[in-house]
Amino acid sequence: MKLHAVVVALVCVAGIFLILACSGTEKEVMHSYPSLPASLDQYYPPQSPEPVWFLAMLGMAQPFSASVADAVETDFENSLKDFEAFKQAYLDNSKKVPEWTERFPTEPIDRFGEAISSKDISRIMAEADSVGMVCHDCHVQNMVLAQQKYRWPNFDEIGLTDPITEQDVTWTNLMRMMESSYTAIGIDLTQGQSDQARNQFQAFNARFNAVSVACMTCHETGRYYFVSNDITDMINQIGTELDRPTIDVEKVNGLLQNVGMESCIKCHMVHVPSAYGKQLLSSHRTEKFQ
Ligand code: HEC
Ligand code: HEC
Ligand code: HEC
Repeated sequence: MKLHAVVVALVCVAGIFLILACSGTEKEVMHSYPSLPASLDQYYPPQSPEPVWFLAMLGMAQPFSASVADAVETDFENSLKDFEAFKQAYLDNSKKVPEWTERFPTEPIDRFGEAISSKDISRIMAEADSVGMVCHDCHVQNMVLAQQKYRWPNFDEIGLTDPITEQDVTWTNLMRMMESSYTAIGIDLTQGQSDQARNQFQAFNARFNAVSVACMTCHETGRYYFVSNDITDMINQIGTELDRPTIDVEKVNGLLQNVGMESCIKCHMVHVPSAYGKQLLSSHRTEKFQ
């Protein structure tokens, strides 16, 4: 896709959001998205202080991998011990979520145990693969959903203040307002309104800084993408160009497009699937545009 087309698409999509956002009408949106068994909730915050299911998975994977590794080392005695620990964890986990009990069949496990007792490496590996497929089948269907629902923080629970209006805002609203000032810079320039463009740039820059600071709510260490120096240099350059007596509109538009491509769209590629998945997995299956 051409760069320009992509940025135009971004602006159009955002424009639709803005129209909906500004219309003030309540609009119910029906979502269809796969769901998770309700009884999984008890194994994650807030119902449980620890992510119990996740830890149980790690606890089960460890002896499973160990039993294979020991068998490969022809240490069948320890392999069998690891297997017993694995089987116990597997049986315990099969009882945790009633809706999933059938997803933990015992036959592949028993065949894996028999294979270890037979000390036949190729048989052990084949049976370990069958066990692995049991894990994989459930993972393909449910792992991403669990990550989105329970492990990803909620963007709209981050306390943010819009630097321009000084009002408390949600992430989504800050995005919409940042998008509005981002788009307005180029539009004002084509309308010959360079003072307006400079004001919109100030607002965009301040909002972009607010978003950059907000990364640290979820990330403990600095990130080197989306809000890094290469991006802020481009934004500063937009400011410099707008301050010239004669503004090179094409140059400003090119810089704006690069910011859109390298920051907005790439950050969306990483974070939006989970942010939206999380919303679709929440108990409110309908949404109200404020
Ligand atoms: C963390 C990286 C990140 C960066 C950088 C970022 N966004 Fe976003 N943006 C998000 C996430 C996450 C959402 C989804 C939020 C939600 O609704 O849950 C979003 C949503 C949006 C929305 C849709 C809001 C709605 O109504 O649903 C717009 C418009 C938007 N961003 C514009 C921009 C623009 C323009 C830029 C660049 C100047 C940008 N964003 C930079 C993460 C980012
Ligand atoms: C009935 C469904 C189900 C079965 C069967 C299952 N798992 Fe899981 N497993 C999950 C879910 C859901 C997650 C995501 C948990 C999370 O991220 O909080 C997960 C996550 C994991 C993780 C963490 C992976 C990561 O990168 O975050 C490991 C390791 C794991 N499972 C091992 C296993 C092994 C080994 C087996 C088979 C012996 C197995 N699981 C069988 C549902 C299942
Ligand atoms: C609501 C929480 C949240 C916010 C806010 C957030 N991220 Fe993330 N981001 C995550 C999670 C969760 C992951 C995936 C796992 C991880 O890296 O922690 C991730 C992954 C990433 C990754 C890829 C993997 C990595 O860790 O390098 C980058 C880069 C990144 N985020 C940058 C940013 C930047 C830049 C911002 C601010 C503009 C931001 N994030 C804001 C939650 C968030």
